Amino acid sequence: MNILILGSGGREHAFTLKLSESKKINQIFVAPGNAGTAQIATNLAISATDFSAVKEAVLTNNIKMVVVGPEAPLVEGVHDFFLADNELKSIPVIGPKKDGALLEGSKDFSKQFMQKHGVPTAKYQSFTKENLAEGKAFLETLAPPFVLKADGLAAGKGVLILNSLEEAKHELEEMVSNEKFGAASTTVVIEEFLKGIELSVFVLTDGKNYKILPSAKDYKRIGEGDTGLNTGGMGAISPVPFADDAFLNKVEELVVKPTINGLQKDGIDYRGFIFIGLMNDNGNPSVVEYNVRMGDPETEVVLPRIESDLFDLFEGVAHQNLNEKSFNVTNKTATTVMLVSGGYPEAYEKGKEITGIENVKNSIVYHAGTKIENDKILSNGGRVIAVTSLGETINEALLTSYESIKKIGFDKMNYRKDIGFDL
Ligand code: AMP
Ligand code: GLY
Repeated sequence: MNILILGSGGREHAFTLKLSESKKINQIFVAPGNAGTAQIATNLAISATDFSAVKEAVLTNNIKMVVVGPEAPLVEGVHDFFLADNELKSIPVIGPKKDGALLEGSKDFSKQFMQKHGVPTAKYQSFTKENLAEGKAFLETLAPPFVLKADGLAAGKGVLILNSLEEAKHELEEMVSNEKFGAASTTVVIEEFLKGIELSVFVLTDGKNYKILPSAKDYKRIGEGDTGLNTGGMGAISPVPFADDAFLNKVEELVVKPTINGLQKDGIDYRGFIFIGLMNDNGNPSVVEYNVRMGDPETEVVLPRIESDLFDLFEGVAHQNLNEKSFNVTNKTATTVMLVSGGYPEAYEKGKEITGIENVKNSIVYHAGTKIENDKILSNGGRVIAVTSLGETINEALLTSYESIKKIGFDKMNYRKDIGFDL
């Protein structure tokens, strides 16, 4: 069977590599892909949100399944587009329809969903410019720090955590009245600040049955010791040592089951990944957010630990018999360290030649922002390469990743030397 993966990051390279191990797959296409996916699959120069171009590619290349990497095509309705088209409707899409994608596309929707279905999460209220005064009054009832979230997608920048009440009131006004995050912030969720340590749990579901994938923790800040600006993620570790069996059981009972049941009760036929961002407060889970896709770089540590055939699991999602599929995970620890362009997450240069990847023997090199030009691999984004290693312990895996990184180079390459420092 031929399969199409939508997206172009490290997550999509990891999907491509894992699916390439499946004997049931003939050819893999990636749209638009990167230099890494080009080496093991066929890249198509198509944007993941250009649905008519995706349709043409699917029909031309006899594609029989589509796996969606990022959230944008899901929130924009790629799955609905397939179901509404006579030539495409029998082709399974791994990823929810628009109704399910709202769990990520609207913070207000996801908070309402959690409240309705009893999923533990921070108390909240939502405001628009029509009730701005009430929003300011609500802030006065909370203790700092204040958490303000733009309702819609804001490229990961829509969450503000502020210590001063005055600043929080000002930012609320900027968001709802002056569209600080454009249309995404015409509605703003204000919620209680949650204490604890963050981690993520990933679920693959066919709408009825589910598999809980390995947990992971990512390192979002650019600077060592978790300082400086937020990034898409500078590294990740799986499993998370502080997520013991007792905690993960609570996550399954208190979060995963009510979420899957809630989707069914609300008539949302959800086929795909649910990324559950959690706070662990003294062993009690609380949901910070849902995403409707896998994380990046979390995928680069979750997939290498899955020993089962990923395509077989996707077929289970498509045919709603995920419960019949075998699912095994290695006990080893996976770590990934992201190599980024100097300056990222602010302004940075692209087009730098990347050397030495072929000398890495003990790690998996996942490409993120890379492209091929005249047989050279060039940087093509802020996050450029994720170097993943497996080990018996976190330290062993990290040592291997950092040894491998010494072999890779590009002008102004930057990375965090302290991934896992807190564990
Ligand atoms: P989100 O986009 O919802 O993941 O928020 C971005 C980050 O803000 C999260 O990963 C948390 O680190 C932090 N955050 C969001 N909501 C809360 C909250 N209620 N309490 C504490 N931290 C939060
Ligand atoms: N690494 C966080 C995310 O993928 O949203």
